[in-house]
Amino acid sequence: MSDNVYYVTTPIYYVNAKLHIGGAYTTFVADTLARYYRLQGRDTYFLTGSDEHGQKIADAAAEKGIEPKAFADEIVGYFKELWTKLDMTHNHFIRSTDNYHERVVKAFFKKLKEKGLVYKGVYKSLYCTACEKPLTQSDLDDDENCPIHKTKPDYIEEENYFFKLSGFTEPMINYLTENPDSLQPASRRAEILGKLRAEGLQDVSVSRDRKKLTWGVSMPEDDTQVVWVWFDALINYVSALLIDEVEKRKNEPDPLNIDELLESEKFKKYWHSVVHLIGKDILWHHTVIWWPMLLGIGLTPPKVVWAHGWWSVEGQKISKSLGTAIDPTFISDKFGNDALRYYLLREMTFGQDGDFSITNLVQRINSDLGKGGLGNFAHRVLNMIEKYFGGVVPEADNAALQPADANFMQTVANAVEEYQRFTERYKFHLALDELWKALKAGSQYIDEQQPWKLAKDESQRRRLEVVLYYLVETLRILGVALLPIIPDGAGKILDKLGISAIEGTLKDNLKWGLLKPGSKVTKGEAVYPVVSSALEIEEKTEGEKSAVKIGGFLDGSTSIELAEKFSEIAKKGAKECEINVEEIVYFSKPALPAIKRALNKFETVKLINHSEDFAEVLKSGDYSILDSGQIIH
Ligand code: MSP
Repeated sequence: MSDNVYYVTTPIYYVNAKLHIGGAYTTFVADTLARYYRLQGRDTYFLTGSDEHGQKIADAAAEKGIEPKAFADEIVGYFKELWTKLDMTHNHFIRSTDNYHERVVKAFFKKLKEKGLVYKGVYKSLYCTACEKPLTQSDLDDDENCPIHKTKPDYIEEENYFFKLSGFTEPMINYLTENPDSLQPASRRAEILGKLRAEGLQDVSVSRDRKKLTWGVSMPEDDTQVVWVWFDALINYVSALLIDEVEKRKNEPDPLNIDELLESEKFKKYWHSVVHLIGKDILWHHTVIWWPMLLGIGLTPPKVVWAHGWWSVEGQKISKSLGTAIDPTFISDKFGNDALRYYLLREMTFGQDGDFSITNLVQRINSDLGKGGLGNFAHRVLNMIEKYFGGVVPEADNAALQPADANFMQTVANAVEEYQRFTERYKFHLALDELWKALKAGSQYIDEQQPWKLAKDESQRRRLEVVLYYLVETLRILGVALLPIIPDGAGKILDKLGISAIEGTLKDNLKWGLLKPGSKVTKGEAVYPVVSSALEIEEKTEGEKSAVKIGGFLDGSTSIELAEKFSEIAKKGAKECEINVEEIVYFSKPALPAIKRALNKFETVKLINHSEDFAEVLKSGDYSILDSGQIIH
């Protein structure tokens, strides 16, 4: 076993819908960690994929009138495009409908059966299809609904296979107690341990009658039963490492011998290092179901299961019907991938819930990445090197050093140390805080040393060289450290410093003094262009007529901007306002009263290019919309 490997996984995503920023979050975190550990020189395997079987997907496909596989193909195509667009660096994308995976599921089950852990019995239970999970009467809310989905659970009574989970209460308690780091954060471990101690584990049904659910993997040696979708899905973390082994057994009949498959080098190399990143809602499955499954076939549980919190949007739950299901593609198109990566990692304390707001995102882009932050620092430093040294990195002469230089260097070194310590403990927001401390120290160093003054005095030339070397070297170090977090911007910074590829490990590259004096640097374009607002407003007013084009994000803050714009136009004397709603990406319903009030200032409002949301809201007030788009109130 070597510590020099890292295996990180995301949940495999259901193929019943597109992913919103909350749904895609885990992949951003996994990608950051994968990039980080690769840079650290670790042999890293990053896995993501799709969860395609089960009632939920069968129902969604039936609703569209297509076969489940064709339905899944479409969404998987979209997932893959999304991950390419977001520049994710997964090593493999697993589909639960992949043949090798289905064969491993059968092999896994065969072994559980041989171990006497699977038996046939009559299943009687409430079941929530949206959760793909059995529920007990005490799980239900006051209206007897699933507490998460607020829908009535189904009642299922049929002959199924059961997994003897009840025998694992003690082994689970022991394992969790002896391996406290295996379940994070500690509050979640306490939650699971508490439940195990108070309630213990009961056997679970792990298959469905094929007559009732046709869409799934057959049980080994019994195709009248289909494997429960969660059993099938969890096994992906193992099967992804066994592709080649299964491929070698193309001509052998199912079920294969799992022990033989697990002898593979790839499996042995990565399994012991696996970190499952998941959302808090699927912790139960990833611990009390998954670990006993693994223990049952003689494998160790994952090294770590890390359950993160959930994102809300402007304080509201993320849901399609609330309009809060923001598509990460739009954010990436408008602000770039870095902005989203940085925001998601900076704004949420990993393990706790977080709140997303577009306005906050724009502020972060400008203050941390753009004109008030990293981009500005890069611009200032490179501009001075161009101006005072013709773009050539100066040499820091030891004889010209002052205590302030060593202090500054030490601050940067500490920040970078802490950044690594926090990242490795999954405290990304604190890790980033540390790097921004170095950035702040850099700006202070500029203010104190006043290079523009030094430049005016020929006798201070050596000092100027020292100061600018210290600044540009800090920029290099920040560029390297930030590669896993904001690869586009960090890459651009390193490019400006003439560094096209990083050789050696992260630790090696974070050492002070690697930028060679005499090398050429260029200021070039801004690393992060200024973003003025999440909403674009274009206005043309002539006499009593005004035309306003809007596009982007209408949230709590930008709706006030828009309302102010309408008031300003009305003040100019416009009586008629024609609103052209161009691609409103996000429409926050609480934003509406302000807009409605502002529109009351016009005699006539015309809506062209209906945005459903916009129209709906206006209609819900005292407005009616004519077919022509004319709005009367
Ligand atoms: N298919 C199962 C996972 C099987 S893994 C063996 C599943 N899929 S899912 O598509 O419904 O959810 C995927 C992940 O998205 C879960 O980890 C869930 O917690 C996460 N999120 C869904 N909404 C979220 C937020 N609003 N915020 C953060 N994460 C969220 O469950």
